[in-house]
Amino acid sequence: MNKVKVHAPATVANLVCGFDVFGMALAEPYDVMWVSLSNEPGIRFTHIDKYNLPTQPEKNVAGVALMAMLENVPGHKGFDVVIDKQIKPGSGLGSSAASSAGIVVAVNHLVNNIFSREDLVRFAMHGEKLASGVKHADNITPCIFGGITLVRSIFQLDIVPLTAPPMYVTVVHPQIEVKTSDARQILRKEVQLKDAIKQWGNIAGLVAGLLKEDYGLISRSLEDVIIEPVRSMLIPGFDEVKRSCKEAGALGGGISGSGPSIFMLSKEEATAKQVENVMKDVYTRLGIEFRTYVTTVNYKGVEIISE
Ligand code: HSE
Repeated sequence: MNKVKVHAPATVANLVCGFDVFGMALAEPYDVMWVSLSNEPGIRFTHIDKYNLPTQPEKNVAGVALMAMLENVPGHKGFDVVIDKQIKPGSGLGSSAASSAGIVVAVNHLVNNIFSREDLVRFAMHGEKLASGVKHADNITPCIFGGITLVRSIFQLDIVPLTAPPMYVTVVHPQIEVKTSDARQILRKEVQLKDAIKQWGNIAGLVAGLLKEDYGLISRSLEDVIIEPVRSMLIPGFDEVKRSCKEAGALGGGISGSGPSIFMLSKEEATAKQVENVMKDVYTRLGIEFRTYVTTVNYKGVEIISE
């Protein structure tokens, strides 16, 4: 087999309280990627979207992820990669992770699945390092594994897929750009003990709530006293969106990854749609262009569509 097409899903990293450790794959949006083996050595990228991303492999997140992978593939030749990005870069919806995860899953398929999913996460993290300056796997892991995941540690890699009750996800993406590297730079380097206690209570509470399918516990645990107070300043309308969505019945939510997208979880689809209306109202009033999604958790991760 010489050619493969994949869908690489958007992801919500952090899930409010679990900075750099929790992540969730979404059914929508997703990038589309075609990868072909070629007898001509080298990696060639073509983007058929409007984002003008770099095509030199060493400057492209998918390129560096693939190069890391190819160090472990003897006798490979060349690759032609076509990417149609539906996840806008800088949206906080795991756009770079989708590129990095998508390509390593696609190429693994082409080389007879010689790598484990953990190996693929390790390769794809090189893309995240290029995008944000540090290796983190909270977007890549759910993108590859699907569902909701806990990355307990990246060195040694320790991934814990989490089960969860049915939930709807509403996302609003105000059309402003927040660079992950900037959103990491502004964070305080030290945490007060009283905040740490609250945060680890919420992290443990969220895991327990997901596993026990306890919506009340999930809702109470969706609180972040460390990252959100700093980052929310970069997102106009954040406090109002969060308050009004909870009043509309959302279980809770917060900044998606490093923002500016905001996500909310709901138990019922009707609530998720109501939450979407609330988000639309806020950004229409603020005069900021936006895009919304009402979607669900994606349990497949990067999906092979055709060969
Ligand atoms: N955990 C990362 C962050 C996700 O919040 O900076 C963004 O890529």
